[in-house]
Amino acid sequence: VAQSVLRNAWYVAGWPEEVGRRPLRRVILNEPVVFFRNENGEASALADSCAHRFAPLSLGHMHGDEIQCAYHGLRFDRTGICTHNPHGDGAIPRAARVRAYTLSERFGAVWIWMGDPARADASLIPDFSILGDRANWTAVTGYTNVRANYQLITDNLLDLSHVQFIHTGLRVGGSGVHRHEVRQDGDTVWSMLWRDNSLPNALHKLFWPDEASDTRAHMRWNAPSVMWLDVGVTGRGQPVEAGVALPSAHLLTPETDGTTHYFFAFLRDRDIHNAEIDARIRAIGVQAFNNEDKPVIEAQQANIGSAELMALNPALLAPDAAALRARRVLGRMIADDGAAATAAE
Ligand code: FES
Ligand SMILES: [Fe+2]
Repeated sequence: VAQSVLRNAWYVAGWPEEVGRRPLRRVILNEPVVFFRNENGEASALADSCAHRFAPLSLGHMHGDEIQCAYHGLRFDRTGICTHNPHGDGAIPRAARVRAYTLSERFGAVWIWMGDPARADASLIPDFSILGDRANWTAVTGYTNVRANYQLITDNLLDLSHVQFIHTGLRVGGSGVHRHEVRQDGDTVWSMLWRDNSLPNALHKLFWPDEASDTRAHMRWNAPSVMWLDVGVTGRGQPVEAGVALPSAHLLTPETDGTTHYFFAFLRDRDIHNAEIDARIRAIGVQAFNNEDKPVIEAQQANIGSAELMALNPALLAPDAAALRARRVLGRMIADDGAAATAAE
């Protein structure tokens, strides 16, 4: 069976406020992981499976900087080494250790490296600096679990043509001139749409008058499945700087082969202390993805089952160009990763 996920890669594990002194369990790439913070606030991640009888460590609790298993009280430090055995003479069995994962808190998110720890380099995380710039930008963040393989969601996010069919709630102005372009810069893929002389959509209209304008939606993809959407509106023929930018982050982490953690953040640099605007943005986002995209993607997954999409000989349309490039880049990286792992054995 061909490997369909990239192991040596950074994935978003959660939002920083989700990880605290209470252990958090999250399955990532089919592996159960437990997240917690040390007393100094540093986030750590271990396999969520005790070395003794494989009870989830997340059922236990923090004892200082160590996590104590709920079942028989073994304690593990952040490196996965057992530091305390309350049984017998207290000797620590050699097998009493669990895998530790490398984390990086960067750009306002907690990232996890699922591959070889020696290759974990935080500078490989794609640029999400606006997401990390909470002084100038505010973020409406959220999470949804999707019963579909992450690549189907990547396809959805890189395909900007479905908006006019499925997202009737966004009320995208119909009369504008549309221009779509796919660009690839190294391993970065852009799916870029311009709608000149069109009416602003529901999101734009929170900050922009309902009059003919130039709008854009530029989705940037980086492996394995992290996307940045530059959405904006400006006056007819005006530079983008004269308008409003409403970017968003779409961060997909495979949970299992058929389920995905979807972390999203909608950003803005105006009216940043306005809970009413936060709520309206959240409602627009939930309506667009949870109520409109997600039911279709989950039904698509149910039809496809465990088959690989491209093996089903799908009909290809012009708007699939960006998603196909992303699949190609990722496929090559997965193959290279597998070859490197085999060579190292
Ligand atoms: S299962 Fe964890 S100590 Fe026994
Ligand atoms: Fe959508």
